[in-house]
Amino acid sequence: MAENLFIPETKDRKEIYEAVIPQIEALISTESDLIANLANIAAVLKEAFGFFWVGFYLTKGNQLVLGPFQGPLACTRINFNKGVCGHCYTTKETVIVPDVEAFPGHIACSSASKSEIVLPVFDQEGNVAMVLDVDSDLLNDFSEVDAEGLGKIIKALEKTL
Ligand code: SME
Repeated sequence: MAENLFIPETKDRKEIYEAVIPQIEALISTESDLIANLANIAAVLKEAFGFFWVGFYLTKGNQLVLGPFQGPLACTRINFNKGVCGHCYTTKETVIVPDVEAFPGHIACSSASKSEIVLPVFDQEGNVAMVLDVDSDLLNDFSEVDAEGLGKIIKALEKTL
């Protein structure tokens, strides 16, 4: 298993995604344990991009429950009709929120979080098995580049489900 992560010295996120995606694919394709894989994905994204918070909320019963993450303490349970994560779960679509204060129902786990992106992760039946939530302490920090890069990581993750 890879022990070192190669991160190019650039601020260009597209270039960083291009470098880390194959490394994440290699990491998770050789490990069958879901929690281990989610933990490493969160660690790689935190290290490569320095995101304020990055982690997973897993569908359990009628709620999303906190899974592996990197960053400050976070709320543990989110109802399907609450927050950006709940919106992603119910619409089954990637949600980019440039200003969390302007998003009705946003759940503030930390007042330092200013913008976020949440992507659904589907199981083989097409149900949302979990969501990937990435938060920034900068306003308007996420774009289609992140939706595409994170989307590729999720495609690799879905293959392991
Ligand atoms: N802000 C999210 C909740 C999770 S934390 O930010 C880690 C939301 O509104 O769903």
